[in-house]
Amino acid sequence: MGSLDGRVVLITGGGRGIGREEALFFASEGARVVVNDPGVAVDGTGGDADVAAAVVEEIIARGGQAVANTDSVADWHGARRMVNTALRTFGDLHVVVNNATVERNRGMADLTEEEFDDVIAVKLKGTFAVTRWAARHWRERFEAGDRVDRAVVNTSSGSGLLNPLPTQASYAAGNAGVAAMTIVGALELGRYGVRVNCVSPSMARTRLTLQVPGMREEPPAGRFDPLHPSTNAPVAAYLATAACPLTGQVLSIRGGSVTVNHGWSPGAHVHKDGLWTVDELADALGRALGPTGRTQLQQMIDALLDQGARSGGTPG
Ligand SMILES: NC(=O)c1ccc[n+]([C@@H]2O[C@H](COP(=O)([O-])OP(=O)(O)OC[C@H]3O[C@@H](n4cnc5c(N)ncnc54)[C@H](O)[C@@H]3O)[C@@H](O)[C@H]2O)c1
Repeated sequence: MGSLDGRVVLITGGGRGIGREEALFFASEGARVVVNDPGVAVDGTGGDADVAAAVVEEIIARGGQAVANTDSVADWHGARRMVNTALRTFGDLHVVVNNATVERNRGMADLTEEEFDDVIAVKLKGTFAVTRWAARHWRERFEAGDRVDRAVVNTSSGSGLLNPLPTQASYAAGNAGVAAMTIVGALELGRYGVRVNCVSPSMARTRLTLQVPGMREEPPAGRFDPLHPSTNAPVAAYLATAACPLTGQVLSIRGGSVTVNHGWSPGAHVHKDGLWTVDELADALGRALGPTGRTQLQQMIDALLDQGARSGGTPG
């Protein structure tokens, strides 16, 4: 018995990295999997149908069930087609794992409109588009009397939540948007039996992170490898199980550590029964923030800028 027996799962960007590990793990837990991946380069260019097909072959060779789809999540009708692939091939859809991403990293003074839009189109709009078409099916099934647990597992990043990085304006904004949309999804779709959660991987060895110092180091054979992209799969699978009670949550994952985030949390607070003057506000906020007059986030930014100035390069 697998924890995902009977579940039909669509995994976007399931051909490589974290998504590939999720596809293999979900299938090993009994799920029937739609492996979506157009096989594009990191920046979204090109395409290779073999990328999704190879994962499907691997699942089938291990005795599992899977089908490939090569549409882009950034294509509105492509997003509908991948949902329909699940319905046509396996008769239903229980789980969507929104995992696809591209990156186009460049400083804000140089980032082009096209580069910004490309990342948002895949990361943020793509997450919405696939969820939207799945939600239509789920609402229809609920109205027809189905009472089945359905789940969305979104994918965010520390870049956008706890540690945004220079050169990642579009990627960080997309990931923060995905975390926000997770909560809206949980609020809206709960009435149809749909739970919406989010994982936020960190330091997983994929083509996106290979240039990070230390990332290529692997432990001796047989030892747990905390940088392996497979560390995310059991967490995503747990969120996908029919018995999981969680919804609206963002879980950060790093190796064997899983942290339940609290999202934006309120900090220093000032209040006046009336309209503030600029001087009053400067004074009140200064006192509320304490002797440095800086928020914790500003202090972190100061430290990164100092570090960058000392190394003569880009902070971070
Ligand atoms: N690797 C990490 O340490 C890390 C850290 C934080 C967040 N993440 C997140 O994890 C997810 C997976 O990242 P990864 O490191 O495995 O990246 P990856 O580049 O190895 O895999 C991403 C896959 O998405 C596919 N893809 C790209 N555009 C697509 C589109 N339009 N439609 C469908 N598929 C598309 C690519 O072809 C690729 O196979 C991403 O959402 C990323 O933001 C990863």
